[in-house]
Amino acid sequence: MRETGLKAKVVIVTGAATGIGRATARRFAEEGARVAGWDVQEDAAAEFLREIDAAGGEALFQRVDVTDVKSVQHGVQQVVSRWGAINVLVNNAGILRDAQLIRYKDGAVAGMMSDEAFDAVIGVNLRGVFLCTRTVVPHMIEAGGGVILNASSVVGLYGNFGQTNYVATKAGVIAMARTWARELGKYKIRVNAVAPGFIATEMVKAMPEKVLQSMCDHTPIGRMGEPGDIAEAYVWLASDRASFVSGAVISVDGGIVTGT
Ligand code: NAI
Repeated sequence: MRETGLKAKVVIVTGAATGIGRATARRFAEEGARVAGWDVQEDAAAEFLREIDAAGGEALFQRVDVTDVKSVQHGVQQVVSRWGAINVLVNNAGILRDAQLIRYKDGAVAGMMSDEAFDAVIGVNLRGVFLCTRTVVPHMIEAGGGVILNASSVVGLYGNFGQTNYVATKAGVIAMARTWARELGKYKIRVNAVAPGFIATEMVKAMPEKVLQSMCDHTPIGRMGEPGDIAEAYVWLASDRASFVSGAVISVDGGIVTGT
């Protein structure tokens, strides 16, 4: 079988303090990669570094806010001065601020998605992906190629009740991945999106029980996913084994069929 080619490669994982990002950082470390974990949760740093070390990789934990261009630029500079290149970017950081577009009760508007909720989610999940990718790409071009992976979601493909802001970003990162695959292919940069189903992380555990049960009921595999299920897809897409895969959306969702 072809080698993964990930040994000593430099990988940035955003939102690496918890959940899927953390599992992804660990999985890249198992392949011998050098992993920079970015997050706004600084208190996760020590545990993150211990975990990557135990997995056999070299690690850096940086407080980077993906919505802040200066913070992203500083993060990139630190990675380049430590390891000299950037080969893989996993745009994983994401947040939820759920609300119905309009909630109508007893003949009157009883609630709505606020401007703040809309803008906050667009800021992290869409603008953050744009800022990180725009800052990293020149370094990939200089390195002679690279891989960019965007965290989409099954709801970016099908829509979801109460998630106007979130689904807009998750559809948006697919469209950006396809656009960047077209623009950056000539620099040997591959760009793909992963669309997870429902994965057992803090983000999902915060969702209403009724929604979680319904998602399990509509998943042919009959369980929620684990962070490691998604990490595996990121590692494969970043590896030389996927060297002809670009502009794709890989669903990792247990076969979920919404609306059934
Ligand atoms: P999580 O909430 O466990 O982790 C997200 C991480 O992003 C946190 O560590 C958080 O501190 C970090 N973050 C938030 N704002 C940030 C910012 N401005 N700058 C840097 N880091 C920031 O989430 P989870 O469940 O691990 O999800 C990871 C990604 O996968 C997200 O993009 C999410 O939308 C996506 N996803 C998750 C699914 C799930 O079922 N858990 C399903 C489909 C997609």
